[in-house]
Amino acid sequence: MQQRVLTGDRVTGKLHLGHYLGSLQNRVLLQERHECFVMLADVQALTTHFDRPGLIRDHLRQVALDYLSVGIDPGKSTMFVQSLVPEIAELTVIFSMFVTVNALRHNPTIKAEAAAHGYTDLYYGFLGYPVSQAADIAFCKATLVPVGEDQIPHIEQTRKIVRRFNDLYAPVLVEPQALVGDRLEGLDGTGKMSKSLGNAIALDCTTEELEVKVKRAKTDPSRIRKDDPGHPDVCPVYGYHRSFNPDEAGEIRESCEKGTIGCTACKASIVRALDGLLKPLRERRSRYEGKDAFLDEMLIDGTERARAIAKTTMGEVREAMKIDYFARK
Ligand code: TRP
Repeated sequence: MQQRVLTGDRVTGKLHLGHYLGSLQNRVLLQERHECFVMLADVQALTTHFDRPGLIRDHLRQVALDYLSVGIDPGKSTMFVQSLVPEIAELTVIFSMFVTVNALRHNPTIKAEAAAHGYTDLYYGFLGYPVSQAADIAFCKATLVPVGEDQIPHIEQTRKIVRRFNDLYAPVLVEPQALVGDRLEGLDGTGKMSKSLGNAIALDCTTEELEVKVKRAKTDPSRIRKDDPGHPDVCPVYGYHRSFNPDEAGEIRESCEKGTIGCTACKASIVRALDGLLKPLRERRSRYEGKDAFLDEMLIDGTERARAIAKTTMGEVREAMKIDYFARK
């Protein structure tokens, strides 16, 4: 069955290997057979960065380059800018009428992010961003949303909102499914890879940067000497072998557990594997770097296509709600 795929990323920085494993990889595969939309979520970025809008502006083209570098193809996928599709904001307002504050407060990802930001009093826009995310997905009637596991509560929330809308008014919106990618541990071994925690490997990093980052990565803390038996399941570096070096991961696990491979050799081997993964990304990126006019054209074009769909959906939404007062039939 042909799916309509939509997903997006906050434009708060360059994307990293966690994004790659969680979602980017799936998008590249999906675009071969399905209709794909990839959204630069600048409005959602504002929910935590409203005091730094310049940072969002500076990263817009960088994220577009990240997309091109992993192989998202503008001939196959529609890349667009969230704030330039105002129908998403309209739909957010409509949805917000029947989503309760408690439902949002209990969303585990909202809770975890609020704690990470040290928020005591929650901003209205931040608390409500899952409602806006539901509008991101619903405006184009996406059936499939490739995301990392932290996004599952938001997709669940979207499904509930869509069901509620369809029950209240008319069945015009579509319930999406999540396609959940694997989670990647951060270099410091304290949680998921995340730019804000400073434990990430950016997709555009050089071989030298990669070496330095991996060298500093945490490993199994109980391994003091090279021949101490290791516990790969608590080691973030082993996690990288599992995700990005499947051919050698089995052997590495065994030698780590036996204490026959040291952390230095293990790290050298993952650097090789990751560098091999990132090499074609760097090459593709360098083809587009500095071509601002091309990148802008690509996003303007994608946004126009997304907007046409958004207008149609909003027309249907208004009709379903009987607020299409002056629509000419
Ligand atoms: N919340 C997502 C993230 O932090 C980004 C996002 C915004 C998104 N809108 C979306 C993902 C719609 C999927 C669908 O990564």
